[in-house]
Formats: sequence, C-alpha cells, structure tokens
Amino acid sequence: MTIHSQKSIVVLISGNGSNLQALIDAQSQGLFHGETFSGKIKAVISNKPDAYGLVRAEKAGIDALCVDHHQFNQKSSFEAQLIETIDQYQPDLLILAGFMRILSSDLVQHYLGKIINIHPSLLPKYKGLHTHRQVLENGDKEHGTSVHFVTAELDGGPIIAQRRIYVEAHDTEQSLVEKIQQQEHQLYPQVVSWFCADKLEFRQKDGTARAILDGKIL
Ligand code: GAR
Repeated sequence: MTIHSQKSIVVLISGNGSNLQALIDAQSQGLFHGETFSGKIKAVISNKPDAYGLVRAEKAGIDALCVDHHQFNQKSSFEAQLIETIDQYQPDLLILAGFMRILSSDLVQHYLGKIINIHPSLLPKYKGLHTHRQVLENGDKEHGTSVHFVTAELDGGPIIAQRRIYVEAHDTEQSLVEKIQQQEHQLYPQVVSWFCADKLEFRQKDGTARAILDGKIL
C-alpha cells in the first residue's frame, strides 16, 4: 500500500517572484510529486500589493493574497495578520522567496523547522542587503546563493544547500543578479522537492539547529 500525504506549501514574496515562478514550473513538471508523497503550493502572499509575483500566482491558479505592511502601525499587528492569513492553509512548508521583511522571533518560532529562505550570498558571508555590491567592492572571486532554514538570527539558520558562481572582471551588480538568479531557479525547486519527499528536516538539540538530509547533518 502506498501512503500518500500532500504537503501544503505557502510562499511569501515581496516583488518580481522569479523564484516563485521557478517553483510553480517545477510543480507543473511534477518535481514535488512522487509515489508516496507530494507537495502543492496552496497560496502566495505578498507584503506589497503591486508585487508581480501575485500575477504569476494568479496565472497559475494559486490563491494570491496581500498583507500590506503599510496598513499596520505596528510590526506585531502586521505579523498577527500575516500568521492568520498563512495559517488558513495549514502549511507544512513556508517558503520565503524574495520576501523582504525581517520576521520577528515570535513568528519564526511559530513556524520553526518549516520555514526556508533563499539568500543571494555564500552564507555566512554577507547577511542582509546589497550582497552583490559587497562582493564587487571586496573584489571577491566567488559569489553564490544559499538556501537555509530560518531561525531568529537574520540569515543565520542552518544552511541546506549552496550554489557558486565565478565573479568576472566585467561583472556588474546587474550581471551578478542574473547569474545568481539562474542558479537560484535550479536550487530552490531542488530543495523543496527534498522537503516534500521527507528527505530534509530541521533538528534542534542543545541549542544548536541543524539541517539534515537523508539522515545526515549538512
Ligand atoms: C532573490 O535573488 C533572492 O535571493 C533575494 O531576492 C531575490 C528575489 O527575486 N532575497 C533576498 O535578498 C533575501 N534577503 P525574485 O522576486 O525574482 O524571486
């Protein structure tokens, strides 16, 4: 007998949503589906009403919602509304795909072990903003992107997977964005497929958080 459990996935975005599109395409190609498992993007939520990612979601027939942070005086009331909106879908996995708000530790705790983020640097290098600029200013020869579990420390949770690129003399911030996003569009769907297949998990022991793939610490 095959056991078939469908994981509910919610994606948070703030902008263009090219990573969201890569996830939607991967889902259509069956990457989140196996004999004994599957995952489905149930909703896309943006904190910005004009985020193009909402259009991408609608085109794919996925619920597209906005919780506009400008409508709230306090971060706590924005996050309360965000949680209420997300929890309608009872997500097994919450994916940050270019979601540009810093989440409070309370919100992170609510979804601990189920939130992943993609960040355009080879973490732990260059947490926060303007990663491409810093790479160019520092004359780095290598750059990359990281997918990690989210913990209360900004861009500091356990790393699941990374992709590297070479930085060339003619590179600009824009060319780095393009090269990095090409890598992201392959990497993120891959990580989500691991999660759907129960290959990937978050474990916390003695205050140390770890990402585990196929039973091995990453
Ligand atoms: C992505 O490159 C992602 O790594 C970055 O925002 C971009 C979103 O692009 N995320 C962060 O900087 C998070 N700190 P997209 O909207 O086209 O997917």
